This record gives sequence, C-alpha cells and structure tokens, in this order.
Amino acid sequence: MKAIIAGTGVEKAVPFGGGVRTEETKYGPVDYMSDGEVVLVLRHRMGHSVAPHLIDYRANVEFLRSHGVDECVTTYAVGSITSKLSPTRIGLVSDFIDFTSGRKSTFFDGNAGIVKHTEMTSVYDNELLLKVLKSATSLGQTLSTGLVYITTNGPRLETPAEIRAYRILGADVVGMTLNPEINLLREVGITVQSLCFSINWAAGLDEEGVSFIEEESEKRLSRIVFDIANNALRL
Ligand code: HPA
Repeated sequence: MKAIIAGTGVEKAVPFGGGVRTEETKYGPVDYMSDGEVVLVLRHRMGHSVAPHLIDYRANVEFLRSHGVDECVTTYAVGSITSKLSPTRIGLVSDFIDFTSGRKSTFFDGNAGIVKHTEMTSVYDNELLLKVLKSATSLGQTLSTGLVYITTNGPRLETPAEIRAYRILGADVVGMTLNPEINLLREVGITVQSLCFSINWAAGLDEEGVSFIEEESEKRLSRIVFDIANNALRL
C-alpha cells in the first residue's frame, strides 16, 4: 500500500476513492480516502478542523503503519522565504529545520520501555525522488529541488524578524506541519518524499503584508501536487 498525506482542502480539490472514511487508531481518529492502491490521509481531518499544533501526527502515521504502507508522499502549502520557490511554484523538500514545540513528536518516548534515536541525516529517499520527478515531467511540471523547510509551531504567522532569522539559518520555505510528521514516518521506516507549493511570500518580504494567492489558484495547485504524488506512487 502507498500513501499521500495532504493538507487543507485536498478532499475538495481531488475526486478520489469514493468519499471520506474514518478509522480509529490507538492515538485517535484518522480521516482518509482510498482506492485500494493509494490511501490519502487528510492531515487536518475533514474540512480543516484541526489546527497545525493540535494535529494528531502519531494517529496519522500509526494508521499508515498499521495498513502496511511502505512509501508515502507528503504535501504542504508553504510560504516562500527565498526565490528558490516563489509563490505558485511547486518543489521538493530535501531537508528540514524543526522549530516546533509541545507536539507529540515520537513513538519512542520511553513509555513502552523503548528509546530509539532515529537517524535524520538523509530523510528523503532517492528512488522515490526519481519517481516524483518523472511523474512531474509527465504532467508538464518542473519542480524546484533541494528546498529546506522550516516548521514553525503556529497557528500564528511569523514576524519579519523571524523570517530574516530563518533565512540566515538556511530555510527556503516556511510551514507549520512537516514536523513531526516526517520524524514519525522515518521512525516507523516508511520511505518518504515531500512536495510543497507556495501560496505567499513570508512575513516582511512583500510590501503589502502577507498576501495569499487566490483560492482558485491554490485549489488548482493542490490538485496538480496531488496528481504528481498519486502518479509517482503508481510508477
Ligand atoms: N508561514 C507559515 N506557514 C505557512 C505560510 C507562512 O507564511 N504560508 C503557508 N503556510
């Protein structure tokens, strides 16, 4: 089984798998759609009802683990910090900086008598990378690669000074949900790639304040990103 974990509004942007279903895990409920070959997990649950810092990332990943998922493409709407990914462009994350706090970010917290230190040196899988690139090309899309994603806790947006600091630290894009999702996927040994699409210049980089792309453009991008992921997982 293959999987996609996607963000806000994807259930409206993609016709897939005959409707949303819910399954209980030991960490909590998960909303998903499935066509038997690929399962799509709705990160924020139906209708974007859960804020980024309150998402049960462990439930979403435990659901994939318990269904024998071995490959997963995660997708994110992000803000642009550098011109490596300007608004409306799609790209692939190659590394992250985790600035989240207070989230349940591991399956190995010692409660079950297991403490494990999962390596994060090369988080992203090369074979899956090639499949995603091939899929994008066949859909006429050119991806920006080698992006560093910084995860902030949210739900507030950043200050201009924070964004200047994040750029100095090496971040290209900012979002609120890549961690601890990726940490957990790696903890259970699921192979991953992360696609992102930019919907705004981050705070302080646009004279107008933070302005987001039109809702229709976001929906179109969300659909294209889903198609890239979905086709890649079937190659
Ligand atoms: N900041 C944090 N998360 C985001 C942004 C942003 O500017 N845009 C989309 N997700």
